[in-house]
Amino acid sequence: MNSPVKNDRAEWLQGPSADGSVQCSAVPAEHKNPWRLILLGAPGVGKGTQAELLTGRLGACHLSTGDVFRAAKERRDCDQSPAMKAAMEYMRRGELVPDSTVWEMVRERSHCLLNCGGFILDGFPRTLGQAVSLRDLMEKEKLSLSAVVNYELPVEEIVQRLSGRRTCEKCKSVFHVTERPPKVEAVCDRCGGRLFQREDDRPESITVRLEAYERSTSPLIQFYKNLGLLMPIAAKGSPEEILARTMEKLDKLAAGAA
Ligand code: AP5
Repeated sequence: MNSPVKNDRAEWLQGPSADGSVQCSAVPAEHKNPWRLILLGAPGVGKGTQAELLTGRLGACHLSTGDVFRAAKERRDCDQSPAMKAAMEYMRRGELVPDSTVWEMVRERSHCLLNCGGFILDGFPRTLGQAVSLRDLMEKEKLSLSAVVNYELPVEEIVQRLSGRRTCEKCKSVFHVTERPPKVEAVCDRCGGRLFQREDDRPESITVRLEAYERSTSPLIQFYKNLGLLMPIAAKGSPEEILARTMEKLDKLAAGAA
């Protein structure tokens, strides 16, 4: 007898089950013109927050490689591959996980990229190597990117956002102690899970992450600019204001494409 299918995003983030009995609860509905977006920007600029809001508006699949790695960390020690254990260490220090491990995780979830409702990639690609792997896969599948949204914010505000961030241990929703506080302290508004502070939001890891961003990820700005896909957005103001700015540009893009 087949085991019943369980729609559980937190469990699904830990990896596809061999029998397909666990699926993401947020599978998007099919769209005629699905959005296929990459969110770029320094750590803490608000990519995850915007990805959640955009997912609500656009109905696309939200894939965050950071969430996938954090979910893998919650697996029992014996269920973690050596590559995954090494990835945890890179993350803890604020360094980038090697491209081969990242690509393996993304490939395992390639139905997020290939589904007919579109996708919003948050934290991936993060190196030129990852961008090339993604481009090759999309070319093979005859899919094209709609846009690459690049969120821009001064570094002092980034550090302030990172140091006040709190994340739900169950559904991964993101809050901020002063800017986006939960209704009940330390409890997730969405699922009632416990909110915690990420290990890599300590000051020493923040510095390493910002350096890794400058060195490895910021070259992607030019890469996507050359492809005519870059959409710069000021990440100042409230999440809703930034969402409105993003939607305005996406609507213009859609109108131009129609
Ligand atoms: P990842 O989880 O992707 O972290 P990141 O890119 O460093 O981005 P963050 O999640 O820190 O920030 P965000 O931009 O999403 O901001 P958020 O919305 O949370 O990656 C973590 C690690 O995993 C990496 O360091 C690396 O080791 C590894 N990794 C992952 N992907 C990888 C890859 N592809 N290759 C190699 N390694 C990889 O917002 C931040 C805070 O600000 C929150 O508290 C939020 O509530 C608040 N906030 C958001 N918007 C606003 C606003 N408008 N005003 C005020 N506060 C706001």
